[in-house]
Amino acid sequence: MRLIHSIAELRESLAGERESAFVPTMGNLHAGHVGLARIAARHGRPVVASIFVNPLQFGAGEDFARYPRTLHADCEKLAAVGTDIVFAPDLDEMYAEPQTFTVRPPLADELCGAHRPGHFEGVATVVLKLFNMVQPRYAVFGKKDYQQLFILKGMVRQFNLPIVMLEAETERAADGLALSSRNGYLSAAERAEAPRLYRLLRAAAERVGAGARDFAGIEAEATQALARHGWAVDYVAVRSRASLLPPRPDEHELVILAAARLGATRLIDNIEC
Ligand code: PAF
Repeated sequence: MRLIHSIAELRESLAGERESAFVPTMGNLHAGHVGLARIAARHGRPVVASIFVNPLQFGAGEDFARYPRTLHADCEKLAAVGTDIVFAPDLDEMYAEPQTFTVRPPLADELCGAHRPGHFEGVATVVLKLFNMVQPRYAVFGKKDYQQLFILKGMVRQFNLPIVMLEAETERAADGLALSSRNGYLSAAERAEAPRLYRLLRAAAERVGAGARDFAGIEAEATQALARHGWAVDYVAVRSRASLLPPRPDEHELVILAAARLGATRLIDNIEC
């Protein structure tokens, strides 16, 4: 496996490759990321993973500075599942000049975007830059970041990028907690509490699946249950899978998404129903 830090070297090593499969990450990899690299390896070669903690997608007071940087361990995990190239640019390489051209996606102010102003602009902008650097045939993203995936699929479609977007189911711990690099921030007591988010989403999804249409009531109940157990809830929302907007009365392909904080740690999760 080659570890590459410069865009020029990346381009040189990918010259002529038309079937590469790409996994963008911010590092601190867990089994979910490794699963994305495995999917990539089943679809294309060479497999390229990027590791870059993107300041553009973090707001003031968020965890950019303390986001864990674990390049060596990440490379070992990626090598073990057949990744050919790890691209890990530094800040100056990625943003050689201030990024004044940015991508402002639709839905940028919805759901997580309402609580993290500028976040999806930062995500879409860095992913577009990475796509231009790697020029992959396939790109793999996890469904845990449901809104991110939705927005990036829209970007690929609307900008006619010749990339096949592959999506991976959320990997979970045995108690249901969605794997996330941010789980490492949780204290032992918070980690014991954290699976409640998924339990409540599952219960809500079962009700919706059984035909309940009182979405506001379902959202409020889950929000109150989380708040009673010490969570600060950003949102629990039943949305259309097709639009990520509140569902029309005749829509049945739905997803319930939630974001909430336990102490200083913000967790997100979702379930399709
Ligand atoms: O999902 C992530 O890890 C990041 O948002 C991404 C897609 C690598 C962009 O920085």
